[in-house]
Amino acid sequence: MTTTPPTEHAIAAAGLHKAYGDKKVLDGIDITVPTGTIFSLLGPNGAGKTTAVKILSTLISADAGSGTIRIGGHDIATHPQAVRAAIGVTGQFSAVDGLITGEENMLLMADLHHLSKAEGKRTAAELLERFDLTDAATKPAQTYSGGMKRRLDIAMTLVGNPGIIFLDEPTTGLDPRARHNMWGIIRELVSDGTTVFLTTQYLEEADELADRIAVLNDGKIAAEGTADELKRLIPGGHVRLRFTDPVAYQSATSTVREATRDDDSLTLQIPSDGSQRELRSILDWLDSAGIEADELTVHTPDLDDVFFALTGSTDVPNQRQENVR
Ligand SMILES: Nc1ncnc2c1ncn2[C@@H]1O[C@H](COP(=O)(O)OP(=O)(O)OP(=O)(O)O)[C@@H](O)[C@H]1O
Ligand SMILES: [Mg+2]
Repeated sequence: MTTTPPTEHAIAAAGLHKAYGDKKVLDGIDITVPTGTIFSLLGPNGAGKTTAVKILSTLISADAGSGTIRIGGHDIATHPQAVRAAIGVTGQFSAVDGLITGEENMLLMADLHHLSKAEGKRTAAELLERFDLTDAATKPAQTYSGGMKRRLDIAMTLVGNPGIIFLDEPTTGLDPRARHNMWGIIRELVSDGTTVFLTTQYLEEADELADRIAVLNDGKIAAEGTADELKRLIPGGHVRLRFTDPVAYQSATSTVREATRDDDSLTLQIPSDGSQRELRSILDWLDSAGIEADELTVHTPDLDDVFFALTGSTDVPNQRQENVR
């Protein structure tokens, strides 16, 4: 595996600019990804996610005026070859050659990485097995289903055992089982010290996998943080208290003013960001008032809500009440 010095960020890019004509796709964004973590870039169609991946993986260059980009400790401008040796890229669109078999596609990658014949064969077999493609290995890739092609694509990315992997929508088109398998593989890679830069349209995926998430909108990073931090940024979170005893319910409603009440289900909703501090104050208040709720649940907005709020879509869905965390 290509190792990066432990103190170095695997990816550190400052002031990335990229325009096509007069359209500013990236308008000065900063990205840093600590080694051995998963970073996810979210954003609506056309936000510039693929553009960012292409720049960071040396496929296209950033515009003049951008800051330094260091990948695996190497400056992209002065050592692009070293960067290429340190990374693997699975593009948004397949790099699989349909006319040759899955195994041949893998061996081609092994050649590109200058693996010996024996080493190439061993790596190909291992990865084909890992991605559940052993049975299909000797069939032309054009006979594969969309999901099989996607899995082959990602298997090919792993051939050189890169320390930093860019995955541009890796699970688009995969069925739920294959998606969960892919998540498992990504987690495994990261537990081995690999750094993953991931774009996705599935917010649930970023929520599941990413250590940090950045939301790209209008050329800027609209917000960045852990999934939980992002969810706390937008309103809609609340704590719900449910009672079975109408007397306890009544005494609770008369002491909390800002709560929304539902007399039929004997529940109270108190606006809250779900933080430890706010929860503690609600619990303290319940204790001091001698009130015991039968159930206390914290409802935070999910990443879909965050996405809609931050990317300026007018189509804001209702808060999901069942989203109990
Ligand atoms: N080679 C190009 N020439 C001109 N415009 C381009 C080029 N590549 C991308 N763009 C434009 O840049 C913007 C960002 O594109 P990009 O592919 O990075 O978006 P994305 O966030 O990956 O979108 P998606 O979710 O649809 O994959 C779009 O408006 C796109 O039309
Ligand atoms: Mg894209």
